Amino acid sequence: MDHFIFKKGELYCEDVPVRKIVEEASTPLYIYSSATLKRHFEAFDKAFASHPHLVCFAVKANNNLSILNLLARLGSGADIVSGGELFRALKAGIPAGKIVYSGVGKTLDEIRYALTSGILMFNVESMDELDAIKNTAAALKKQANISFRVNPDVDPKTHPYISTGLKKNKFGLACANAIEAYHKASHMDGLKVVGISCHIGSQITETSPFVETARKIRNLVDELGRDGIDLKFIDMGGGLGIKYNAEAPPKPEEYLSAILPELSSMPQTLIIEPGRAICGNAGILVTKLLYTKDTGEKRFYIVDAAMNDLARPSLYQAHHEIVPVEETAAASQPVDIVGPICETGDFFAKDRPMPPMEKGSLLAIKSAGAYGFSMSSNYNSRPRPAEVMVTGDSFRIIRHRETYENLIRGEDN
Ligand code: LLP
Repeated sequence: MDHFIFKKGELYCEDVPVRKIVEEASTPLYIYSSATLKRHFEAFDKAFASHPHLVCFAVKANNNLSILNLLARLGSGADIVSGGELFRALKAGIPAGKIVYSGVGKTLDEIRYALTSGILMFNVESMDELDAIKNTAAALKKQANISFRVNPDVDPKTHPYISTGLKKNKFGLACANAIEAYHKASHMDGLKVVGISCHIGSQITETSPFVETARKIRNLVDELGRDGIDLKFIDMGGGLGIKYNAEAPPKPEEYLSAILPELSSMPQTLIIEPGRAICGNAGILVTKLLYTKDTGEKRFYIVDAAMNDLARPSLYQAHHEIVPVEETAAASQPVDIVGPICETGDFFAKDRPMPPMEKGSLLAIKSAGAYGFSMSSNYNSRPRPAEVMVTGDSFRIIRHRETYENLIRGEDN
């Protein structure tokens, strides 16, 4: 069930009119539906029920403490890629023992922080990094649980910027080098080899790349087992796509029933790291129409949100549905929906059919819950938006709008 629907001619999030939230929290504004977040997390968790598993939400998709806390209460772990994400995950109540640490460039400080926190495992991406983890663990007299991130060389058939599992990408170890890496690591003091991990890309809308990856991982795990290296965890990464426009991505249960046959005979605990599929369609960005402008050539809707608030359209030419918050039957005509930032790339939609709208009307940019706020910036010295969580007929601000004072925090004159 969609929790962003029109009732009596206006857009609601769950049981609250978006207009009413804006009256209190202003625009631009991110609004999330807690029922959607819960349903999406549970879809993964339940589809996995037949096998020992752990769902580690990818914090980079949305790192708001309240969202992480909601997921923590549902039993989620976290996939993190920085010390800052570890800090947030722990603050939000995600147990360290459910946190996996991915990323190609972990610093010594970050490794130290993760070791002293007692995370579940490091997904190691190079032999250099393995050395750094080993030395840091030795200095702290601790043991580091590690898995290698392998690069299965599978084409995820998605945008090149978000493909990660091809040979030419910077991520992971090539499968051909993985066996040797495991042998080396299994003889090193201070390290405990516990798993294998992978992540082939994001916004993947077919099951076949995941199935091919699962098969390659299973072959590696079998080979390692024959060599006496027994793993406890298989981490399949994230990457399941969502519907932004005309895509028809598999549902979590379809994705898992495609990969589970490849892995169900394995005794290892399965980990997955979904981000977008949990929070993408649980959030919208609400913005106000400031001005309209006709150049003869084109018609522009200039809104109060910009590429600093939601970068995906500028960065990836990503499509986000945009709807007026107040329903109208008026005929649409093509407009460019743009922000106030001084860049031609500052747009949300081009030549998009939209009805005529009054200045001050509200627009909802949909599917903005993943890689929306988490990729926002202060470019053009714009304070970042507020965030609101809706639960049934109530809502609360889960992040206050930034102030001008916030903008200069830490700076000297
Ligand atoms: N695990 C690892 C190691 C990752 O690198 C990522 C995402 C995920 C899990 C979660 O992937 P998801 O389930 O969300 O697809 N900013 C881009 C997406 C970048 C994804 C980077 N890695 C966008 O807005 O489309």
